[in-house]
Amino acid sequence: MSSSDTLDVLIVGAGLAGMRAAVATPAYLKVAILSKVHPVRSHSVAAEGGINAAIHPEDSWESHLYDTVKGSDWLGDQDAIEILCQEAPRDIRVLDEMGALFSRDAEGKIAQRNFGGLGFPRTCYVADRTGHALVHLLYEQLIKRGIYVYEEWYATSLIVESGRCCGVVALHIDTGAVEMIRAKTVIIATGGLGSVFRISTNGLINTGDGMAMAYAAGAPLQDMEFIQFHPTTLKETGILITEGARGEGGYLYNVRGERFMQTYAPKAMELASRDVVSRAEHQEIIEGRGIDGCVMLDLRHLGHAKITERLPQIRELSITYAGVDPIEAPIPVTPGVHYSMGGIQTRTHGETPIPGLYAVGECACVSVHGANRLGGNALMETIVYGRRTGEAAARYAAQIEATPCTEAALTQERERITVLRTCRGPERIGDIRAAMGTIMSEHFGMVRSHDRMEEGRRKLLSLRSQLNDLGLQDHGRRFNTELIDALQLFSMMTLAEVIAACSIYRQESRGAHTRSDFPKRDDHLWLKHTLAFKGDKGTALDSRPVVITRIPPAERTY
Ligand code: FUM
Repeated sequence: MSSSDTLDVLIVGAGLAGMRAAVATPAYLKVAILSKVHPVRSHSVAAEGGINAAIHPEDSWESHLYDTVKGSDWLGDQDAIEILCQEAPRDIRVLDEMGALFSRDAEGKIAQRNFGGLGFPRTCYVADRTGHALVHLLYEQLIKRGIYVYEEWYATSLIVESGRCCGVVALHIDTGAVEMIRAKTVIIATGGLGSVFRISTNGLINTGDGMAMAYAAGAPLQDMEFIQFHPTTLKETGILITEGARGEGGYLYNVRGERFMQTYAPKAMELASRDVVSRAEHQEIIEGRGIDGCVMLDLRHLGHAKITERLPQIRELSITYAGVDPIEAPIPVTPGVHYSMGGIQTRTHGETPIPGLYAVGECACVSVHGANRLGGNALMETIVYGRRTGEAAARYAAQIEATPCTEAALTQERERITVLRTCRGPERIGDIRAAMGTIMSEHFGMVRSHDRMEEGRRKLLSLRSQLNDLGLQDHGRRFNTELIDALQLFSMMTLAEVIAACSIYRQESRGAHTRSDFPKRDDHLWLKHTLAFKGDKGTALDSRPVVITRIPPAERTY
């Protein structure tokens, strides 16, 4: 593909959302994907437990809607959730027809398991490697359709001219060339930001680049205070131990051998929503009923056959990284950073407020997850909204002429990247990145308070000033991964500051945002989305109403 061509649709990010968007575009348009890693190394590949859709005759999309709204602690936009739940069954059939290797029940139908916060076992799965299977499936579709992939290119900024997005500037990691890629529409599908924290279930590549790029270009980030802690991450490593383990019947125990969820969620027990289970574990641990900072996930009663058939990867990970075979002993687990409910604000076709710019997947906030996402809804969002966004961007591109795009952004980015590549100050990327992760984990973790967060914000500010004295050790152009690390660090620092500002702003506890100084949900003042804009003096905040169509706010118990 020549860099002087104008594409109809350029998708940045090749995980499930990005690939599904690409595959939804018609063949007569010029479409390409750009990704900093090979598509099958995208983080979607690490999704384990499954994908939710009401496909069983005794289930209904309305029930899926109710569970999702309740799971979101009423912050999800119900028009967007209706779309997700109504369109999910058809999209599962499409994946099945493409050849997805879904696990099957005894009748050969797509098997479904229990997951947290669900009123019906609605999670379709491929053992405990669902993301892996779907990423490979969509990559096959990409190849089949001949969609061009800018492989190992890193997008450094969006080009917005005459009020419209008209492409990106990107760095070819192999050669070090910085080029402009013109496109009538750009879809950001770059995934999450877990690496902003010290430990998370996310791959190191999840550095929030797309969110930071959209924010820099003037798009609002929505609900960035809502960071999900997954209840079962492996001791010390943060490796995901799928919720499917509890869906298949696993128990959580404290040091006294009690199934402590009895106290916090007597009906749903281990399958309450993630925020509830993670808070319960945290409470047990700080009140001294943990074991070495963990609780125990016990699968032994499931037996050898079930564990090896449905949870083979969990077994392998536990043996390799904790020295525990779950067939014989419980797994030490702890809540860990897993997912960002917030992201680039979009409407229900992935449109952002900037014409020509779309976003989808974890980097976006449409918002179907509100204050707390249900397990299994993220993969479904990538598929339903990936398709819708790809279709919408294609429709828009087919109707408009390409905006003439000057080279101003390219010149500016070439200068910025050269300065960064050749900087020789005393500060090291790794040190700043580690300090940022520690600040975020210690001051913006599971339980927050004004004073701790303000202290964290001050530390972030001082850390930002250290970026002025950064020094790289690799000044070369070819495959300079240190330069990529530096660019990622700037994205992450921006997002850390946005998360800090939004978390301090929201003075209530809702979903994953728990404040010890405001312990209750407050619908009167805070039933609204937070919007964060790049202002002249840091993050500027605003809000917008939540869309409520059918299910008025109610008390949330499990
Ligand atoms: O627990 C899990 O398998 C994760 C699933 C999800 O985040 O949706």
